[in-house]
Amino acid sequence: MKLERLQVDVERGVARVWLNRPEVRNAFDGLMVTELRTTLFDLGLQDSIRVIVVGGRGPVFCAGADLQWMRAVASFTREDNLREAQAMADLFFTVYNSPRPIVARVHGAALGGGAGLVAACDISVAALGTRFGFTEVRLGIIPAVISPYVLPKIGESAARELFLTGERFEAVRAQEIGLVGAAVPEEDLDAVVEQRVSELLLSGPRAVAEAKALLREVAWRRVEDVQRYTVERIAELRSSAEGQEGLRAFLEKRKPDWAR
Ligand code: COA
Repeated sequence: MKLERLQVDVERGVARVWLNRPEVRNAFDGLMVTELRTTLFDLGLQDSIRVIVVGGRGPVFCAGADLQWMRAVASFTREDNLREAQAMADLFFTVYNSPRPIVARVHGAALGGGAGLVAACDISVAALGTRFGFTEVRLGIIPAVISPYVLPKIGESAARELFLTGERFEAVRAQEIGLVGAAVPEEDLDAVVEQRVSELLLSGPRAVAEAKALLREVAWRRVEDVQRYTVERIAELRSSAEGQEGLRAFLEKRKPDWAR
């Protein structure tokens, strides 16, 4: 598929997906949503891809939903309006549900859906000075489809404050509330992202996918409801080819085959 809104580079098992619409600060219109969803879905199906990094071209990571497009969608039929909202929801779910770990490389600004994209990613590294915000209320709308990803990351207390005020906040606060894992000087951003990628490449590829599934299943559930599932998963994984290789490699004091 020819991509108009993204740029994708793949090198040695790492896919770098760049939002590439800098003239509107990488705002999401319908085409961008479709391209990003299908690209991330397809990358997740490729065994050769071990890690995905999402970043933004130009001065900012992502300014959220394209406000021109939002205005236009509002005049669609209710059905088409709902379909566009569903497509946006599907994008965030694709990120969250990807079998591959997805790292957000965040700079400049991540607002509205851009901050939602950060929340849906597994690991996020932001440059100091990056402006975050759930600015929707200031536009008379709400951070609806991103909320299932934001709330578990930042908790209800911070979400109440930030969803209701729509205020912008800095990378340091984003780190304090758990929206990003690290806030680093801009000149170190790529090096820190690469360090996260290197760490992820040490993890068994199937184990990473299973760990993501585990997080999805266990979050917010009662121990009694998930214990059987956790027992079954560890029993399955330690007898899998990958689990056997990982355990054997440790005992033989060598790297497992996926980390060589
Ligand atoms: N949707 C559509 N267009 C957008 C946009 C968005 N979310 N965000 C920025 N743009 C456009 C601007 O309208 C401007 O277009 P123009 O050149 O035709 O005037 C262009 O992108 C550059 O924006 P500008 O504000 O001049 O860039 P900046 O680098 O100074 O600031 C932001 C970048 C992201 C901080 C700022 O654009 C902003 O706050 N955008 C709104 C983000 C927002 O509230 N998103 C929530 C959506 S729910």
